[in-house]
Amino acid sequence: MPVVVLISGSGSNLQALIDGARTGLPIEIRAVVSNEPDAFGLERARRAGIATRVLNHRDFTSREDYDIALATLIDQYEPGMVILAGFMRILTPAFVARFQGRMFNIHPSLLPEFRGLHTHERVLESGKTVHGASVHFVTEELDGGPLVLQARVPVKPGDDPNRLAARVLIQEHRIYPQVVRWFAQGRLRLDAEGRPRLDGQVLDQPLQLDALTPEQTH
Ligand code: GAR
Repeated sequence: MPVVVLISGSGSNLQALIDGARTGLPIEIRAVVSNEPDAFGLERARRAGIATRVLNHRDFTSREDYDIALATLIDQYEPGMVILAGFMRILTPAFVARFQGRMFNIHPSLLPEFRGLHTHERVLESGKTVHGASVHFVTEELDGGPLVLQARVPVKPGDDPNRLAARVLIQEHRIYPQVVRWFAQGRLRLDAEGRPRLDGQVLDQPLQLDALTPEQTH
């Protein structure tokens, strides 16, 4: 399945997809698009021989104009899936509608807890002992789309935001390729009621990585 990956930063989730595509993940990354010209993820894409495009939001006067240009750029690559991998932009409703049902995001928390920014700091301040990451279909609600897969991570004594983020990222690099695989295989979809289904089964709750069955992970 052809895909376009949107990034803003380091691109470690992009790297997990690049590595996956080399080892059987059934996607072709047609382009990596960044709103940040200096995003290290662009370098990762170049090293992998993937087309890179920069669309700097500072060159646009409105969010609507930016998103129209971004959607036009994405459409050039005719992706079956649009993958937000650390793309730190709020999306307009028109943009979301254009790719609804085939656009995914990864977020560093156990959604619906800790939407938004600085999740690791906020989890540490909360005193919670479990943190994690979530992959979800993108809808208009920020970090609020239907959840597909989560992984849990312990919060350990002495953690600081960086240590905790690193522990979460390891799990992000496992759950994102898994969800991308399901979608590329045609096993995961949003139904007419907006509910995610895997192998025909409605996901009332997000799946948990450590509870997947062998059938689900094949
Ligand atoms: C990841 O932790 C991802 O979950 C987060 O940004 C980081 C990107 O890292 N995304 C969000 O916070 C989206 N709201 P990466 O560039 O190394 O993949």
